[in-house]
Amino acid sequence: MHPSFKTPLTQVLGCNYPVIQTAMGWVSTSQLVTATVEAGAFGFLAAAVMTPQDCEKEIQFIKSKTTKPFGVNIHAFQPDVDKIVDMCIDYGVMAISYGRGPSTKIIEKVKNAGLKCVPTIGSSHHAEKAVEIGADILVCQGHEGGGHTGATPTWLLLGQVIDKNLGVPVVACGGFKDGRGLAAALAFGADGVAMGTRFMMSSESPTPDTTKAEYLKAEVTKILVSKKLDGLPQRMILNSTLKTLENSSKIGMLFRAFGNSLKYKSQTGMSLPQVVKTAWSMKKNTDLTLGQTMMASNAPMIIQKAMVEGLPNEGVLPSGQVAGLISDLPYCSEIIQNIIETATLSLKKLES
Ligand SMILES: Cc1cc2nc3c(=O)[nH]c(=O)nc-3n(C[C@H](O)[C@H](O)[C@H](O)COP(=O)(O)O)c2cc1C
Repeated sequence: MHPSFKTPLTQVLGCNYPVIQTAMGWVSTSQLVTATVEAGAFGFLAAAVMTPQDCEKEIQFIKSKTTKPFGVNIHAFQPDVDKIVDMCIDYGVMAISYGRGPSTKIIEKVKNAGLKCVPTIGSSHHAEKAVEIGADILVCQGHEGGGHTGATPTWLLLGQVIDKNLGVPVVACGGFKDGRGLAAALAFGADGVAMGTRFMMSSESPTPDTTKAEYLKAEVTKILVSKKLDGLPQRMILNSTLKTLENSSKIGMLFRAFGNSLKYKSQTGMSLPQVVKTAWSMKKNTDLTLGQTMMASNAPMIIQKAMVEGLPNEGVLPSGQVAGLISDLPYCSEIIQNIIETATLSLKKLES
């Protein structure tokens, strides 16, 4: 193995290669995580959209299939987050990842238990604070990346954060899919890469075939950032649902939010006041309007249409722009083997 693949990232996380499979709601399931960690990368289970019961089953499944370390992604606002955190500690999970609105209480608890904290940041302004409150690794996701994303392009963000010399491994994220990208990130001073879309477009990803077909057709310039789904910039493939959302007025958005809340109620058993209460508590912690927050609290339903039910045009398709450069659905082991082989060739070429 090329010596450049042993980095502070692989040392902290205990994986073979400096490659992270990120958390993606309804995509980064036990099946995907098992496949990525077995292939030598580090995988995060997307537990931010799971109940504690489902999360426990997923953790048990991974543990029954592999002895390799893995991580769990949480969201500070999700219901029963404390139960999930306790479970991660009890099951000896290696790391937790999180994004917006990290909870210092949770970070302190998991760190005291010896777990590693891996936040994703989308702006260099958040780097110092993230490390100050406990980050062991910083994943820097640039504008090209899928799902919620910031405004700074990947390489610019990476340079900004590396230059701060904060004493923790820095991981490049947003737009990666191959070994050239890994070699470039290592040459740039990063300690590894993190990828979402590439792993979603794999054989083991549970995303329905009808939906994967839409990702295979996607074009780089038609995977856009919109705030219309939940009030925060989120990168998605421009499909008919996104076009409708983009053309909605504020009042139309609010009606849609209430309509979805009612549907959400029938799906989850949550009463409308409970939905409003959850939305209100999120609103207090963000700078969103109540209408946006209502959308945020039921955006999961719209995402699930595509990512779980296999109805890509009735839902939205969170995606990195890199989907426009991907035209296959290989096994995770092939993705990782290919990355390592081509990164090795790229590094040797530079050395010669
Ligand atoms: C389908 C999809 C779902 C995602 N869901 C989540 C999520 O639930 N939580 C999260 O922190 N990030 C989520 N993300 C962001 C990814 O974890 C990752 O940061 C991003 O995809 C990296 O950019 P890339 O797709 O260019 O590799 C999602 C991304 C995609 C493509």
